[in-house]
Amino acid sequence: MGGNLTLQDENKTNFLENQKIYKNLIKELVEINCKNPIPLAMIKTYGCQQNFSDSERIKGILKNIGFDFTDDEEKADLIIFNTCAIREHAEDRVFGNVGALKNIKKKNPNLIITVCGCMMEQENIAEKIRKSFPFVDLLLGTDSIYHLPEMLYRVLKNKKGLISERGIFRKVIDEDIPIFRESKLKASVPIMYGCDNFCSYCIVPYVRGREKSRKPEYIISEIKELVFSGYKEIMLLGQNVNSYGKNLDEEINFSELLRRIDKIEGNFWIRFMTSHPKDASFELIDTISQSKHICHQLHLPFQSGNDRILKEMNRHYSREKYLNIVNYAKEKIPDLFLTSDVIVGFPGETESEFEDTLSLINEVKFSSLFTFIYSKRPGTPASKMIDPTSKIDKSKRFKRLLELQNKISDKIFHDQIGKVEKVLVENLSQDPKKLTCRTSGGIVVEIDKKESENLIGKFINVKITEAKRCNLIGEMIK
Ligand code: 5AD
Ligand code: SF4
Repeated sequence: MGGNLTLQDENKTNFLENQKIYKNLIKELVEINCKNPIPLAMIKTYGCQQNFSDSERIKGILKNIGFDFTDDEEKADLIIFNTCAIREHAEDRVFGNVGALKNIKKKNPNLIITVCGCMMEQENIAEKIRKSFPFVDLLLGTDSIYHLPEMLYRVLKNKKGLISERGIFRKVIDEDIPIFRESKLKASVPIMYGCDNFCSYCIVPYVRGREKSRKPEYIISEIKELVFSGYKEIMLLGQNVNSYGKNLDEEINFSELLRRIDKIEGNFWIRFMTSHPKDASFELIDTISQSKHICHQLHLPFQSGNDRILKEMNRHYSREKYLNIVNYAKEKIPDLFLTSDVIVGFPGETESEFEDTLSLINEVKFSSLFTFIYSKRPGTPASKMIDPTSKIDKSKRFKRLLELQNKISDKIFHDQIGKVEKVLVENLSQDPKKLTCRTSGGIVVEIDKKESENLIGKFINVKITEAKRCNLIGEMIK
């Protein structure tokens, strides 16, 4: 390797150069085609934090090529739906919302409608959009954000027929795509893209491609810049952050990355998601417990408490291994708050196998759970498994699980009363006389807003005075 390659050179995507060309080309066409002198884009994002992070890149690109933003679809020149494919329900919502754009397009025939994200990486779904919604102009896959300026140019120039750029998984990571961040306080920083795990129920590996880790130096310099400009919480993102580094030349794992990030000077918190239990190590727990900046919250999806189901899910860990790591974590970090994802009604799950899930929940005591009823995803191995349990029975199991978890969360929340906690003040609550804050463990605390002081963006200490269903109430102490 040559001696003085800069970061920009190494990741050779030339995105900014390309963009300049399309910016000028688009500008001329925008004047003819768009109703607003500064064209307005509306971006609607579905699904996970990775999708929200992608939308910040989409917005960064649009801003750079001369767009501004609106939340009003009637005013927009460009509407982008960034879609999620994780469950059928998420897809149905997108179909409904795209369908509803027909009338808006009738009123404004120059409106450009784009559908992008995970749904677009499934051929049958892209085909359905083509057939059922002929007024859609552009389809973009998950790894095609880079091509957005060129694609928009082609749509503006052609103005007929659907343009599509999907199914292309780039080997490089486009480090020079600009980012338009929604918050001035909390920032998402992807550390890796894609997933190699192929859990048997999950569509993500098919729609997001193989794992690619960002080089540590890019991650560190991005976080340093964010902290320097006042960001107080950095969320590291990846489908499986614990396998960070596996495909990099440099030998580095996730714990080492965390240790390097932890050395960055400043007053900020680090969170990360999602951790896969198969790769969650004691080293990771030790790293959290010894760090200055990492929050005492661990999101560790267990999916099922039964070994046969875990095997069928292709999860590569047992109930025992999961509990071992959790127990080690509780011992090393006594104030740790655990959260998790769980699936109810995986094909063939019996009543007693479901009860193993309940007993694991009882044993671990998660502060909150993201609970899902199994949703069949065409193309995945689980979609071909026999699934004899009725929808009604699955709903009953789901309800039992929620009841149990609510009791556990209530108890954990009540146990916080009287404690003093450091919190980050995030924003105004729905009640404008109150402020929403968050503890290191990830629990929301509401406090009274003082007219005399602007606390948003500050770390303060609060005393917990009351527990509600989804949040705590506290008062500031000096
Ligand atoms: N059905 C139900 N839940 C699913 N998840 C992923 N795929 C499916 C599916 N087909 C859940 C898992 C995962 C979370 C992001 O979504 O619990 O951890
Ligand atoms: Fe899906 Fe499993 Fe990958 Fe998570 S780790 S994205 S559940 S395949």
